[in-house]
Amino acid sequence: MTVAINAARLNDHLTALGQIGRDDLGMQRVAFSHLDIAGRNYVSGLMRAAGLSVRIDAAGNIIGRAAGSDPSLPAIVLGSHTDTVPSGGQYDGALGVIAAIEVVHALRDAPRTLRHPVEVMVFTNEEGTSFHRWLLGSRAVAGLWEAEDFAAVADDGATLAARLPDIGGNSSRIEQARRRPDELACYLELHIEQGPTLHRGGFPIGVVTGITGRSVYHIDIVGEANHAGTTPMALRRDAMPAAAQIALAVRRIAGEMEVCRVGTVGSMDVHPNAGNVIPGRVQVGVEFRDERMESLAAAEVELRRTAAELAHAEQVAITVTAQRNTPSVPIAGNMQQLIADAAGMAGLAHVSLPSGAGHDAQAIAAVTPAAMVFVPSVGGISHAPAEYTTPEDCANGAQVLLNALLLADAR
Ligand code: GLV
Ligand code: MN
Ligand code: MN
Repeated sequence: MTVAINAARLNDHLTALGQIGRDDLGMQRVAFSHLDIAGRNYVSGLMRAAGLSVRIDAAGNIIGRAAGSDPSLPAIVLGSHTDTVPSGGQYDGALGVIAAIEVVHALRDAPRTLRHPVEVMVFTNEEGTSFHRWLLGSRAVAGLWEAEDFAAVADDGATLAARLPDIGGNSSRIEQARRRPDELACYLELHIEQGPTLHRGGFPIGVVTGITGRSVYHIDIVGEANHAGTTPMALRRDAMPAAAQIALAVRRIAGEMEVCRVGTVGSMDVHPNAGNVIPGRVQVGVEFRDERMESLAAAEVELRRTAAELAHAEQVAITVTAQRNTPSVPIAGNMQQLIADAAGMAGLAHVSLPSGAGHDAQAIAAVTPAAMVFVPSVGGISHAPAEYTTPEDCANGAQVLLNALLLADAR
């Protein structure tokens, strides 16, 4: 017998979390900021109100646990994140967390005790805006921290080791955040699609088939700063035209050339960033994404070739540093079927699709079978303040999450 989520409570909590860290430009709950900490405190309170016992692990992940009736069984985990990109949207991550808490709350209201324990995990710094290290909390749970995580430094010079205690973590004990495969039964995450497929196709539910791979590069272009009024054009070593051509090359590699699915220049630091100074240095952030890792490798070859050509033509020094290479992760067929069955139980049509965005599920999949439910993003907009999913779609997604939990508990 199924249990119904409380759609009004779900959407009220989602709206309330959406008020924390909102300004005229969007959501500003960048991980480790005081606004992120305010959001974390809000969801911790919701977890307690839903009857979960709450703890913080060494990675700063917030973990709420409800006991099951069979103490010998491993936990089924529901999770996502509450940090946002700068000027982000209200639903990315937040929906998965608020829905997970609602699922537990609805089971308690029913009342219905599952055989398995249920854990709700709110993962630290999924976005990786802070410290340029993404999936920080979920990779700790999966035992996937790298040397760069221990050494991570934020743009303001603060070390991750120094900041983790601010959210209750401790990087010298990070091993304690790691979970063994025999402690976990499976992982289920609800998320907004963040792309146009479901909204365009009129499908209420998406069953995720796999999560895209992503490679990130830091490009440092060094020319010569000089006076913008006196330096003749022919004598300039201007870092900016090289940076602009890198941006066009990234678009061409993924666009016209179709070497990989998408490519983006999302950040640029101009030095000294003054209107009357020829830029002496520009730092450019590049990322490519594709489900096929060989396409990402081919994009890197093309990026490096273009950078070498531009360095010569523009008389600047260009260094391309690979920062991160996150492999694509397929979702197991039986886990996709679980979500499809859960949608069927709710009488909702579904379509299968890959995820073009990254998710905590891709890290957790290294330690336990993972599945993801997507709901439509109106207009396919995300990582922007106009990000919107209707209350009805949010409720549908939460109900499918609950149904999937019931099915997993029975298996
Ligand atoms: C995470 O949100 C990503 O950038 O895909
Ligand atoms: Mn997200
Ligand atoms: Mn995101």
